[in-house]
Amino acid sequence: MTNNSKPSTMTTAATTSGTHPGYMPGFGNDFETEALPGALPQGMNSPQKCNYGLYGEQLSGTAFTAPSHQNERTWCYRIRPSVKHSSRYTRIDLPYWKSAPHQPQDVTSLGQYRWDPVPHSDAPLTWLTGMRTMTTAGDVNTQIGMASHIYLVTDSMVDSYFYSADSELLIVPQEGTLRFCTELGVMDIAPQEIAIIPRGLVYRVEVLDGPARGFVCENYGQKFHLPGRGPIGANCMANPRDFKTPVAAFEDREAPSTVTIKWCGQFHETKIGHSPLDVVAWHGNYAPVKYDLNTYCPVGAVLFDHPDPSIFTVLTAPSGVEGTANIDFVLFRDRWMVAEDTFRPPWYHKNIMSELMGNIHGQYDAKPKGFIPGGMSLHNMMLPHGPDRNAFEGASNADLQPHKLDNTMSFMFETRFPQHLTEFAAKEAPLQDDYIDCWESLEKKFDGTPGKK
Ligand SMILES: [Fe+2]
Repeated sequence: MTNNSKPSTMTTAATTSGTHPGYMPGFGNDFETEALPGALPQGMNSPQKCNYGLYGEQLSGTAFTAPSHQNERTWCYRIRPSVKHSSRYTRIDLPYWKSAPHQPQDVTSLGQYRWDPVPHSDAPLTWLTGMRTMTTAGDVNTQIGMASHIYLVTDSMVDSYFYSADSELLIVPQEGTLRFCTELGVMDIAPQEIAIIPRGLVYRVEVLDGPARGFVCENYGQKFHLPGRGPIGANCMANPRDFKTPVAAFEDREAPSTVTIKWCGQFHETKIGHSPLDVVAWHGNYAPVKYDLNTYCPVGAVLFDHPDPSIFTVLTAPSGVEGTANIDFVLFRDRWMVAEDTFRPPWYHKNIMSELMGNIHGQYDAKPKGFIPGGMSLHNMMLPHGPDRNAFEGASNADLQPHKLDNTMSFMFETRFPQHLTEFAAKEAPLQDDYIDCWESLEKKFDGTPGKK
């Protein structure tokens, strides 16, 4: 526990009855929840006067006119309207948090890259000051593309709040436990879980068990949703009921406070005299959500061959081109390998998509060494990659009995846009200069002899 890690108290219906506030199951459900009885209007959104003297306010996550299957909005009933959580803005600098387009002149993004875990800092770092951008892609101003970040967090935000107008954040913890106190409720997130914080949602991040380190995919584009399963059917992969959205919770707190806003890649502060986390009740389908990656049910080859890694997609964010994602979030978890007469690890390839991977824990099958928990790798657009020599020789000569890939959990942020390194990724983060050499010892085996293997 760190100095500022005292967890917050927020009022919920459940805490007033002495039980854990809990979560509501489902992905993109039309939820309703209230922290005080009768706070939520029934049968309408905008009564002439709301109960308890609350203000009614809509948070629109999509255009009003978005198709109904994509339309997302939430009605909030709050102590003060959001205009009271906003005053004059002052530009501030968070020098390690970058947004696309960002292509430093003296940084070469072309290449296959791998990093050791970014070490924790001796300095106290919050969710804002501890964010380290590794790559950016697309353009934040036109709302396409993404950025990948590492976070290093030692200290809780105190009387400090944040929201991103630019993006939803997909958070993948690797060490430590964080508490996200949001306008719509409280989520605790530990390694092997993920969370999504929607664009525009105000929150504060506290450290429950630190220091905390993890990965963030900042999605500038359309929201993540569950991929279609196609012929797989109605079950397996990520099942909607395993996603959890917090129940309503609020704080009625008067204290000098700062709200930081990320807007078009720039950071701004505004000063207010109270907590903005004052939503007493809400209903709608635009809300934060968390998910336990251990509930992901992988589907794969049961006779021969190695399917495309898209079969392990947990969430996908569309780009406007059908089947070509702005971002896919893909999970490589423990699973059985049973394919016959098959090279079982990922094959060699070049890809129009750009692949950024992170290791949450354990050992990844295509790179048994060097890609370690907390580490990342980048295989950018149309750059070849694949197993190293040891992985190739081992898999080519293995006795192909059923084999459990155990103690492994890695992920990929895959985007249709090339990813550009930040100066931090190229110069400060622990880049492995020798990564490219992992393919050096692959042998030429061909000599024209038919049947040679
Ligand atoms: Fe790949």
